[in-house]
Amino acid sequence: MDLPFSHSSSIYIITLILLLCKGTAGATFTLINRCSYTVWPGILSNAGSDRLDTTGFELPTGGSRSFQAPPNWSGRFWGRTGCTFDPNTSQGSCATGDCGSNQLECNGAGAKPPATLAEFTVSSSTQDFYDVSLVDGYNIPMIVDANGGSGTCLSTGCVTDLNQQCPAELRAGNGAACKSACEAFGKPEYCCNGAYGSPDTCKPSVYSEIFKAACPRSYSYAYDDPTSTFTCTGADYTITFCPSSTSQKSARDTPPTSSTGTANGSETGTGEDPVPVPMGINSSWLPNFVTGDSSKTLSASALHTTLISSTTLYLSLFLLYS
Ligand SMILES: *[C@@H]1O[C@H](CO)[C@@H](O)[C@H](O)[C@H]1NC(C)=O
Ligand SMILES: *[C@@H]1O[C@H](CO)[C@@H](O)[C@H](O)[C@H]1NC(C)=O
Ligand SMILES: *[C@@H]1O[C@H](CO)[C@@H](O)[C@H](O)[C@H]1NC(C)=O
Ligand SMILES: *[C@@H]1O[C@H](CO)[C@@H](O)[C@H](O)[C@H]1NC(C)=O
Repeated sequence: MDLPFSHSSSIYIITLILLLCKGTAGATFTLINRCSYTVWPGILSNAGSDRLDTTGFELPTGGSRSFQAPPNWSGRFWGRTGCTFDPNTSQGSCATGDCGSNQLECNGAGAKPPATLAEFTVSSSTQDFYDVSLVDGYNIPMIVDANGGSGTCLSTGCVTDLNQQCPAELRAGNGAACKSACEAFGKPEYCCNGAYGSPDTCKPSVYSEIFKAACPRSYSYAYDDPTSTFTCTGADYTITFCPSSTSQKSARDTPPTSSTGTANGSETGTGEDPVPVPMGINSSWLPNFVTGDSSKTLSASALHTTLISSTTLYLSLFLLYS
């Protein structure tokens, strides 16, 4: 039986396909837990975006896990805390950020407020948009770093533990989370609805200002200034829970290991400094997903799947004929 192609050409084709895959694949998201406690991240893809490998998982202290997003993916990540799942039935819930699924996977359900949210709209053709939102309240320190992209690509999020500074009337879960003023009081001036449903009429409140002071780059209310949304092109993103414990980072000597698809790998050790640089952001882009509901529901790519399949096919052929 004649070989359909020589070894060298098949290697060439495989390399080419792998490069094409890399070119059309979306961003890689890496979640890192630097908290002293276990976090159970939740992932919600927006309508029109494929789900990632999981919609909810357990991330122990020091653990990390990476996800390859399809092109044009949009969605959000958050951290659930204080979860208990019955070892027999796998059923359970979380003290904060619970998604109401009654299980580890959130299966398309979002976080019950209050929860710190990291929101992304990734584009294969133009720039990505990302923000950390406290519009639904706060439950965990979280920072987003963009790695390897071009553009402004600033870190955003909340290094401060806002639970410590949460006003008594906003406190939730015995201090484990901090409600937004909208959730706590339901008034239009806090929720930016009714007569306050525009950026001109909905102004910062004493409460949103507490959030803004603690987390200057995060969305503190629905019409927070546009500099709370950041852009980057072609980046991968790291979402770190409890980033301020990074002083321990250099003390660890675990080698950096990619842990794509594993439940708990070692720290990725990308070496970037998650502490945000001072303010001075110049962004003219006015976000249209300030409320956390991105209208940019771009369809995910069937092309990527096709390329993966053909790569698998070529690899099989290669192995078969070598
Ligand atoms: C799980 O099942 C075992 C065996 O049936 C039982 O002994 C144990 O109490 C159960 N645990 C819980 C948390 O229900
Ligand atoms: C993953 O976590 C489990 C239990 O949490 C632990 O037994 C195991 O050693 C961990 N694996 C790695 C690679 O860290
Ligand atoms: C922001 O960008 C605009 C246009 O690029 C420029 O005119 C303006 O001076 C910049 N402002 C700051 C604060 O850098
Ligand atoms: C991503 O979205 C852009 C802009 O809408 C579009 O041009 C491009 O074809 C999309 N890419 C994929 C792989 O779906």
